[in-house]
Amino acid sequence: MPDFTPTREDKFSFGLWTVGWQGVDVFGSAARPPLDPADAVHKLAELGAYGITFHDNDVFAFGAGAGEKEAALKPLREALAATGLAVPMITTNLFSHPVFRDGGFTNNDRDVRRFALRKVLDNLDLAAELGARTFVCWGGREGAESGAAKDIRAALDRYAEAVNVLTRYIVDSGYDLRIAIEPKPNEPRGDILLPTVGHALAFINELERSELVGLNPEVGHEEMAGLNYAHGLAQALWHGKLFHIDLNGQHGPRFDQDLRFGAGNARGAFWTVDIIESGGYDGPRHFDFKPPRTEDFDGVWASTAGCMRNYLILRGKVRAFRADPEVQQALTAARVPELSEPTLSPGETLESLRSDEFDPEAAAASGMAFEQLDQLALEHLYGVR
Ligand code: GCO
Ligand code: MN
Ligand code: MN
Repeated sequence: MPDFTPTREDKFSFGLWTVGWQGVDVFGSAARPPLDPADAVHKLAELGAYGITFHDNDVFAFGAGAGEKEAALKPLREALAATGLAVPMITTNLFSHPVFRDGGFTNNDRDVRRFALRKVLDNLDLAAELGARTFVCWGGREGAESGAAKDIRAALDRYAEAVNVLTRYIVDSGYDLRIAIEPKPNEPRGDILLPTVGHALAFINELERSELVGLNPEVGHEEMAGLNYAHGLAQALWHGKLFHIDLNGQHGPRFDQDLRFGAGNARGAFWTVDIIESGGYDGPRHFDFKPPRTEDFDGVWASTAGCMRNYLILRGKVRAFRADPEVQQALTAARVPELSEPTLSPGETLESLRSDEFDPEAAAASGMAFEQLDQLALEHLYGVR
């Protein structure tokens, strides 16, 4: 049996809100007691994680003053120092308090927008202080349930204004931080702004310091929109915009399931690990899952360990797939390498393109040989190769 024990080199990180989720959902109250952030750090270190991430209010209460914040941060800092765990990413809670019921950056109420910006600016200072390199903005409440209530074009103006304020502040402060926008189609709002990787990429192009803004795509969020997560990652990489990732499990378009990574769409998870491992992403393998509320803490830690173990199992499988000589042959038979050849030769004229001798009937007569290739992938996934 190969060893699937995670090490720090694997760069696994977890949000404090994931293992600390008490199971409060739309239909039910807390199913587990609160988890102390410092205890979570120690347990995650023991299980093989290299880092933790958090929202401001995962550690200190909404509205906490400077003294209260520092009192809450002290034991966390001590746990980080004792375990050597990193804080590669920080994010802001702009969704729990009812003041954000119509969003933070795009709230119709200008005073709320100004309050939201102050909350995020404070959190940027904390991120820089703790050595985080990525700052995630998930706009879960930026959206609408009805038509006339939200002027979408004005909301996008305000969204862009907010992100521009943040990047200006990052530059002026000399912080080594980049912003990663996390798309999601819906939940908690009926429709959320920047619902998919594609929408967010287009939005980023309109920003002042767009080089400082990229993406934090989440498995479940793309699959909720019926999209292919691995393709989303590939496109984000193509744009140089894959700044961070949220890994979890999802079964197609339904509510955000946040299953442990590898549970849910297993075939999608295989191609997800393939693109992460081979596409040039070298950031944290970050898990944003929710241990189901059926579980006690033993179940929480089993679910946590399962995220990392499933990633390592799939990593072994995608490596074996890529190294398999039959796969190499099947890739060639499927003419996959040919797609990397430019369609026109260097310096070729359109006249020469137009003068090609080509028989479409003959080209259409032979198949693309994709099924044999995909079967090999499935056999690696199913564990028979
Ligand atoms: C969700 C989101 C959040 C964000 C987190 C970081 O659907 O609830 O995925 O978990 O990732 O708020 O900003
Ligand atoms: Mn989510
Ligand atoms: Mn997420």
